[in-house]
Amino acid sequence: MTVIIFERNDPDSSTARDHKPANQEESAISKDPRVTHASDLEEEGYRQPLEASSPTTGSGSPDLMAGIKAASGTGLPAKPRPSLNRVLQDISASLGDLQTAVREADLRGEADRAAAESAMVEANRGYRDLFDLAPDAYLVTDAQTVIAESNPAAAAMLQVDQGSLQGKPLTHFIAEADRPAFQASLIQVREGGEKRNWEFRLQPGEGAPFSVSVNVSAQTDHRDQLVRVLWLLRDVRESKAEEDRLKSLLSRMKSSFHGVVDAVAEAVEIKDPQTAGHQRRVAQLAVAIAREMDFSLNRLEGIRVAGLLHDIGKIAVPMEILSKPGELTNLECEFIKSHCQIGFGLLKNIDFPWPVLQAILQHHERLDGSGYPAGLTDKEIILEARILGVADVVEAMVSARSYGPAQGIGQALEEIHQKSGILYDPEVANICLKLFVERGFSFD
Ligand SMILES: [Fe+2]
Repeated sequence: MTVIIFERNDPDSSTARDHKPANQEESAISKDPRVTHASDLEEEGYRQPLEASSPTTGSGSPDLMAGIKAASGTGLPAKPRPSLNRVLQDISASLGDLQTAVREADLRGEADRAAAESAMVEANRGYRDLFDLAPDAYLVTDAQTVIAESNPAAAAMLQVDQGSLQGKPLTHFIAEADRPAFQASLIQVREGGEKRNWEFRLQPGEGAPFSVSVNVSAQTDHRDQLVRVLWLLRDVRESKAEEDRLKSLLSRMKSSFHGVVDAVAEAVEIKDPQTAGHQRRVAQLAVAIAREMDFSLNRLEGIRVAGLLHDIGKIAVPMEILSKPGELTNLECEFIKSHCQIGFGLLKNIDFPWPVLQAILQHHERLDGSGYPAGLTDKEIILEARILGVADVVEAMVSARSYGPAQGIGQALEEIHQKSGILYDPEVANICLKLFVERGFSFD
């Protein structure tokens, strides 16, 4: 065991000066031959240890002075303090290591820089290839749309030599009639940074103007100043032609569809001449009601088709029953009632984009469940069928039938008013009444 006592220069300190063994145990330790001798302290270097061989009696104690001499080298073989040299050596070694590390880092940095530059060259080459080989036209212009760069596709699109594009303003190649709109949109690009699916017409070096679809991206510098505009132009002549062709085809298909619907509606009326024009007039009133209910144009088209076809099932009902004067037997009534399901069955394989089938099936359902064929109530009946139901009753009552004379619009509206909320949707009924009373609606 080694005990070391350090002398302090603090004159007030009594730690070493006044140290006395506090007890026998401490005293015994002081006499322990294993306590530190000066030779033990040599390795400590920067310390000023004293041999704790005897109790100290004060700063002037001979023992203490002897200890100081011993520690300072006068009482012990003089040895150089290794600490300074060692520290210098250590520092020198560390500096060497550091220099080596710096050199290695430099070498690594150079290698990294070389690799990065090589990668950049490769990347630039790749981008250049993409730029040059792209099927779409690419242009790079300054903020005033003066062309700085172009790819071969751009030159081909504009029918000029690629070299002659540089320095020319892009507006030079915009169809004259489109230039005001182009300039206006260019302001949006400058403000918004980009614009997609922008269409305008280019005026090539030769030939007529043609439409292009353009995506534009504006680039700014660190001061947020617009410095460069990237343009991607795509020739949309072919897609425009295809779009026009599809529009024309769709228009013809719509025309054909309406022709078929009208023909089917007329076929029913040929079978039952007394109801001639009934479906067309029901469709007219149903569309007028639906328009007041803010139906979209597409939904209005659906209810018009449903109105024109709502009684198509009557085509399967014997003409004798349809045109029978006077009251019908129960069996005949059931035959008549079956026209809803028959109509649904006839058209069920047609994929209408509107709820035509449900409207046909439900147009005789009533809010209180007294209708047919399913006895649906309230919102179980789709809105289109609730509208058709009101329009059907009004039209039927104002038209003469084999089973009775026309009752007139007054009685028809009275029926709707009285049964509103019971048989008929109250909102639909109210709008129907307003159409006749306030808007002057009349059947064609
Ligand atoms: Fe009907």
